[in-house]
Amino acid sequence: MEMKSESNIEKDGGLGWGKSLPVPSVQEVVQNDSHTIPRRYIRDPKDRPVLDELSPTSAEIPIIDFSLLAKRDQHEQQKLHFACKDWGFFQIINHGVAEELMQKMKDAGTGFFDLEMEEKQKYTMAENDIQGYGHAFVVSEDQKLDWADLMFLVTHPPQYRNLKYWPLTVPGFKETVEEYTIEISRVCEEIFGNLSVLMGLKEEGLKELHQDIKLAMRINYYPPCPKPDLVLGISPHSDGGSITILLQDDHITALQIHHHGHWIPVKPLPGALVVNVGDALEVWSNGRYKSVEHRAVTNESRGRMSIAMFVAPHDEAEMGPLEPMLRHGPALYTTIKCIDYARHYLSRKLDGKALDFLKIHANS
Ligand code: OGA
Ligand code: NI
Repeated sequence: MEMKSESNIEKDGGLGWGKSLPVPSVQEVVQNDSHTIPRRYIRDPKDRPVLDELSPTSAEIPIIDFSLLAKRDQHEQQKLHFACKDWGFFQIINHGVAEELMQKMKDAGTGFFDLEMEEKQKYTMAENDIQGYGHAFVVSEDQKLDWADLMFLVTHPPQYRNLKYWPLTVPGFKETVEEYTIEISRVCEEIFGNLSVLMGLKEEGLKELHQDIKLAMRINYYPPCPKPDLVLGISPHSDGGSITILLQDDHITALQIHHHGHWIPVKPLPGALVVNVGDALEVWSNGRYKSVEHRAVTNESRGRMSIAMFVAPHDEAEMGPLEPMLRHGPALYTTIKCIDYARHYLSRKLDGKALDFLKIHANS
């Protein structure tokens, strides 16, 4: 009898995690007509970004000195704690990822998006897959589309890689992505070590929920848009994994996070990496740490690229409040297997937070 495990890579190369309907490349839409916005991208008035609205506070997301975290500096650990609790977002400096490597990673991304359309299309996502060149989270013909194209690649562990989607003709692409993956794993393990302690776990607690840390890279490309006030680069969403580490353009402010009822821009800090709490960490921490909604806007004059590394828990790990967190109060979430949550997350359009169905409501 043939055994079928859904977690294994399927013969046709799909990961069995989800799929997205094919839609036109935004880069090509703009190349063909740089003045008109097709209807599918125009947001309903209530969802449009207000671009000239200054943020109501001068608040900015916390900046954490990673070199102090590496020494388990308690003051810095407290800053990390408050960042995850009050903001769900922070930037890290002194993280040890070489500036040259970050630049090479950006160049690799640009190298891909600069290829001729015909060449890029060789890496188009297969119908049953989420890896490759295309779009994510398109589940119906009538949903609004994001003003962005993307390349999505699982980069670690190596057996999850599907090299047919890797643009090996871009000089240095593979080596750079491999090197960057190793560096991001290191950063990630350090953050997990600190957060584990803050959560009352043993130091390896969070690491063990990942085992061999799974990393998936999304290179987002947001072309310039003739009417940035009508569209969104990426719809409001929270990230579905444990944490995300984002390398963004040093000069364009586009990422916004939903904080106390307002959209707050994340001003790029050259050389820093942006880190945010994902849904799994919110649930493990029983809601103490917040997986915060965020979105990206576009601008009229310049394209923007960002490179997100999503850190995913082990497929078989449980996503439910961890025991030490229950000393502070009752469980606020039910428990689900991480792979089942990932499938749920990847099967819907990006539309705010995806984890409400896990919440346990008082009185029920
Ligand atoms: C993402 C994301 C934000 C950005 O890829 O999940 O939120 O600034 N990107 O590109
Ligand atoms: Ni995101």
